[in-house]
Amino acid sequence: MFSRFKKDSPSGAGTPLATTAPVTQPVDKAGFSARAAVPPAVQQRVAAEAVVADKEKKRKERLTELKVEIHKRLLEDLNLSALESASEQQLKSEIASLASEALDEMSVALNKEDRLALNQELYDEVMGLGPLEPLLKDETISDILVNGPKRIFVERAGKLQLSDVTFRDERHLLRIIDKIVSAVGRRVDESNPYCDARLADGSRFNCMIPPIAVDGSLVSIRKFKKDKLKIEDLVRFGAFTEEMAAYLQAAVSCRLNIIVSGGTGSGKTTTLNALSSFIDNHERVLTIEDTAELQLQQVHVGRMESRPANVEGKGAVTQRDCLRNALRMRPDRIIVGETRGEEVIDMLQAMNTGHDGSMTTIHANNPRDAVSRLENMVAMAGIDMPLKAMRSQIASAVNLIVQASRLQDGTRRMTSVTEITGMEGEVISMQEVFRFERLGVEPSGKIIGRFNATGIRSAYSDRFRQWGFDLPASIYEPIV
Ligand SMILES: Nc1ncnc2c1ncn2[C@@H]1O[C@H](COP(=O)(O)OP(=O)(O)OP(=O)(O)O)[C@@H](O)[C@H]1O
Ligand SMILES: [Mg+2]
Repeated sequence: MFSRFKKDSPSGAGTPLATTAPVTQPVDKAGFSARAAVPPAVQQRVAAEAVVADKEKKRKERLTELKVEIHKRLLEDLNLSALESASEQQLKSEIASLASEALDEMSVALNKEDRLALNQELYDEVMGLGPLEPLLKDETISDILVNGPKRIFVERAGKLQLSDVTFRDERHLLRIIDKIVSAVGRRVDESNPYCDARLADGSRFNCMIPPIAVDGSLVSIRKFKKDKLKIEDLVRFGAFTEEMAAYLQAAVSCRLNIIVSGGTGSGKTTTLNALSSFIDNHERVLTIEDTAELQLQQVHVGRMESRPANVEGKGAVTQRDCLRNALRMRPDRIIVGETRGEEVIDMLQAMNTGHDGSMTTIHANNPRDAVSRLENMVAMAGIDMPLKAMRSQIASAVNLIVQASRLQDGTRRMTSVTEITGMEGEVISMQEVFRFERLGVEPSGKIIGRFNATGIRSAYSDRFRQWGFDLPASIYEPIV
């Protein structure tokens, strides 16, 4: 027992903590109603299974009750201020021994498996994010989406599914939200009902609480992947082909200005990160993001993260502020995680004034849309410029648009690689070099398709050659 964790005298009752509610096992009613037609052996098996399911349900209910009770006691007994300096191991054994004392007092005996599960859940409640903790640890999960206390969805391999994890009630969920946002010095309440934050492990977090969230708090977590997908992985997963990778390598190395366009969760950041691996190690790269997600492998990287205003509405540092400052920091390239507002002006200017090789992502459904989004953002930034002048700024700043898409079957693909070639009259001219062609859908819902060249040779072929990237003409030839 680590006495320094134990309060000298028990103080007022802490807030009892809720726990995961038991998951009700659906009982196969159809199985019972059809009993007469079923052989006795099967009937026996079904009955035995029902007994097991009922036992399991009762066991979980009991564990939940115990957890709430013991958690209440823990909050009374633990010296919370001493927790911060303790190691994980010390804390775990402290919690385990306090829990075992409580179980003794309550004259409850648990088997080893239940005791370990209980200790882990108690630890997650006291130190971690409660029911979210096992989902955060599960490496196969990429997104966690909470729709009120009882419905937590997770995304695995591009597919959303309902998990069997729940919060006890809205109060429990709100307490965990509060824990997350207060750790980054923010607050959510009725007057300030939503918030962005970053979890300790780097995951991106957003929440919105009632009454704006109608059926209970909404939480979205994009898990931070320690090992970001590399170009080889993306080729292996069928996001694009080796030929396209060779083309993209030439495009990044020859310092084309690139925009990765795509919808929510389509793989924009992942693609941007993978493309950055083609940047030469000697270049000075500055990255600007709202939530630092990019993981560049180069030696010379300066990372910046914007900051929202604090509770008093002060201290905001926008992406635009970072970008303006970055221009004075002698960058070779600037990478903006996602352009979504007024920083577009400075981004285009940077691309037009010697920081070629810069990259960003933009929220749009196709390359033409991406250009319209840029135009809208420039207009909304309050720049009063004739449309033609604005378009020619965009056309000379941006060289390449790479379209990322998440298809209905959950796969992420680079559905278009489109070059901007200049202006024709008032219109920005573009040419698609590679595209993903959809050919059909399998009965399982899997989309059948293939990548193909459009037959148009890159407008940057000469530049590629001059920089030592002699791409074979065959990569531009379409399969028919
Ligand atoms: N080609 C791919 N194959 C498999 N998984 C992928 C692929 N591309 C991205 N992912 C995964 O999909 C998830 C979303 O990717 P990412 O964060 O890059 O999307 P995004 O478009 O930047 O999303 P947001 O709009 O929320 O910023 C991540 O977990 C990432 O690891
Ligand atoms: Mg992103």
